[in-house]
Amino acid sequence: MATERTSLFIFFGGTGDLAYRKLYPSMFNLYKKGTLREHFGVIGTSREKLTDQQFQEKVFKSLGVAKTDKEAQKFASHFVYEAHDVTDKAHYQVLKNRADELDKQYKLNGNRIFYLSLAPSFFGTVAGFLKTEGLTDTDGFNRVVIEKPFGRDYDSAHQLNDALSKSFDEKQIFRIDHYLGKEMIQNIEAVRFGNTIVESLWNNRYIDNIQVTLSEKLGVEERASYYDNSGALRDMVQNHIMQIVSLLAMEQPVSFTDVDIRAEKVKALRSLRVYNVAEASTNFVRGQYGAGDSQRAYRDEDNVPHDSNNDTFVAGKLLFDNYRWSGTPFYIRTGKMLADKFTRVDVVFKKPLIDIFSFPQNHNAPLEANVLTMYIEPHAGFSLRLNAKTNGQGFQTEPIDLDYFVDAKDSKATPEPYERLIHDVMKGDGTNFSSWQEVSYAWRFVDQIRKVWDLQQPQFPNYTPGSMGPAAADELIQRDHRQWVYRLNK
Ligand code: NDP
Ligand code: BG6
Repeated sequence: MATERTSLFIFFGGTGDLAYRKLYPSMFNLYKKGTLREHFGVIGTSREKLTDQQFQEKVFKSLGVAKTDKEAQKFASHFVYEAHDVTDKAHYQVLKNRADELDKQYKLNGNRIFYLSLAPSFFGTVAGFLKTEGLTDTDGFNRVVIEKPFGRDYDSAHQLNDALSKSFDEKQIFRIDHYLGKEMIQNIEAVRFGNTIVESLWNNRYIDNIQVTLSEKLGVEERASYYDNSGALRDMVQNHIMQIVSLLAMEQPVSFTDVDIRAEKVKALRSLRVYNVAEASTNFVRGQYGAGDSQRAYRDEDNVPHDSNNDTFVAGKLLFDNYRWSGTPFYIRTGKMLADKFTRVDVVFKKPLIDIFSFPQNHNAPLEANVLTMYIEPHAGFSLRLNAKTNGQGFQTEPIDLDYFVDAKDSKATPEPYERLIHDVMKGDGTNFSSWQEVSYAWRFVDQIRKVWDLQQPQFPNYTPGSMGPAAADELIQRDHRQWVYRLNK
């Protein structure tokens, strides 16, 4: 049985899509495992008028269990509801009284987690009122969880951070990036720092390039009002991709603690080259999907303006100006409505300096590069491509793959990212959350690309649904005499 954790949770935006779809089911998983037991209470809030019982019924329904499930009923009985407009200062007193009641009822020691699952424009307001109206005046811990997006550029992120910092210290702020809650993303550190054969080769002497692909099969769906103001660059690159890249690029931390890991990630991001106009134009390409067989073009999706120039695809080349990575590019790409849904990292090693098997009489195909692939999702695993002798007479070589995949049973038992991250918040472990410095360096990099794009008129649409993006994404890497490891029709 897991160690029981004690806390009150207040979910702002407690009737929203994220809360019902991800947050409550993840908390129920923690309840089933014993991390949450007797000593927890939950207040859901939004403007909707609901009784405690109505809210409990909705929470119960979100768990997707049988009506008779006693464990789920007991879990849902810890939830209460307060209708509350987050801009209404007076109402925070009502919320405070309810919080104090639950604190006594469940013996919560004044521990409070404020989860802001709301439109980002409210983050600063809520944080301010939590402090001024005394909800944080307790003897226990007070932590605030912030959903994405954290700003829409460096300036707005900075303002938001200033607003939060008036009420909470950096160690009390947990900025969610759900990719950091994924099993295989956490495995990047295990593979790098747990294996001499990996880490000793993990530099520009042996690695030719690293490729990070976050490919999505679905389009914008019902989220156009958010997505059309964000685009793939802000939605995926600024946060998820920059986090993955910093884990791949960082030096070994002094210890495996949030402070030391974050320090190394920040150091890596500081050495990421921030592009000037010419570099941004050359090293980044954007795309927008057109119509496919049975698929509307992005510009014809619901709530998307017909002349939208929003990016639904990004590919780019990142360069780190430091001793470890100078000369070894990181190529990244992500997009909606691509060939398939998957996330992977391909680490392409340099070929042997001399190919002794390639002599005229041998007719051997040239040696291929070794590639370490980390499959993040949907199947979790690794693959290492080596060159080996082809079985039989003569001396030919061929690439072979050493594969390891997490089996179906273990994969089913893998905690959902939100389950893991909520658990970390209860423990006070910030390792898998984005620090302000990480966020700020990521925005500084992304802002430069955005600024250049804002000055140029794109030729959209430029890729078809089911492809791997625009031709320019292939040209970007081919220009460097390389190619994407994952590509269609190879
Ligand atoms: P929804 O629009 O589904 O929910 C918003 C919630 O906020 C509702 O409960 C709404 O209830 C409440 N709300 C809105 N205005 C107020 C107000 N003035 N006072 C009090 N409550 C208010 O959003 P999501 O759940 O989809 O998203 C929440 C956050 O999570 C956002 O920051 C989003 O970017 C982020 N996120 C969401 C993801 C998802 O898959 N949904 C994925 C990644 C991040 P009411 O209108 O009744 O007040
Ligand atoms: C979210 C983005 O952060 O990540 C979405 O806002 C995207 O646009 C999603 O679809 C992808 O997450 P996952 O876990 O499904 O790869």
